[in-house]
Amino acid sequence: MSVRRLAPKEQQPASFAFSAENLAWAKKQIAQYPAGRQASAAIAILWRAQEQNGGWISEAAIRAVADLLDMPYIRMLEIATFYTMFQLQPVGRKAHIQVCGTTPCRLRGAEDILDVCKKRIHHEPFHLSKDGDFSWEEVECLGACVNAPMVLIWKDTYEDLTKENFGKVLDGFASGNPPKPGPQIDRQFSAPVGGPTTLNTRAGKGEGGRPASAQPALTDADAKKPTDSASRRESPTPKPPADDATRKGKT
Ligand code: FES
Repeated sequence: MSVRRLAPKEQQPASFAFSAENLAWAKKQIAQYPAGRQASAAIAILWRAQEQNGGWISEAAIRAVADLLDMPYIRMLEIATFYTMFQLQPVGRKAHIQVCGTTPCRLRGAEDILDVCKKRIHHEPFHLSKDGDFSWEEVECLGACVNAPMVLIWKDTYEDLTKENFGKVLDGFASGNPPKPGPQIDRQFSAPVGGPTTLNTRAGKGEGGRPASAQPALTDADAKKPTDSASRRESPTPKPPADDATRKGKT
């Protein structure tokens, strides 16, 4: 993680004031905590300040939140600079793209997504595109690994990305019509691509009315061993019919 510093002075607005609606909301947050514990509302209120401030937190906003919570400025600065959810410099007006660069996303093509960001937005993270509409950064796992690779834009995730469909996501934000969040391929939530792969056959009825599975169950003895070759397929071996106890008595 890079060193997190406040934006340079020339980018800092002179002041920050909460809108009436956000101030009322912030006071409600503070009221949820016992007297003397109002600092517990710091993160929620900083987040609201960031939303009001176009997606980043200025020094003036940090001071305003500290004043509201009666906290020393240095404490609020510590919070804002520690948590990477707080952007310390201006971000794209239309979208700030957070690209997951952790292993599962890397293995599934995050490099391609980063390439698109570098080509379409800026070759360096945390820099605005020429028109000021977009910015990007690489972040750690965002918890949607099953649909890797993915990005977070504002509060929504866009998943199952390729160079092509990610380009369309950016086009959508550029034109003011962002696509539906979630998987960008034909998949429901994180269900298997192409439809269900299990429990998709109707089992018949076996002996005694018990459901009979299509094939015998896999036992520990059937399971693949670490020493087996990679090409060996794990499948249950057919079992001989159980011995008939009544026949034993007759012999
Ligand atoms: S590794 Fe990318 S979301 Fe988890």
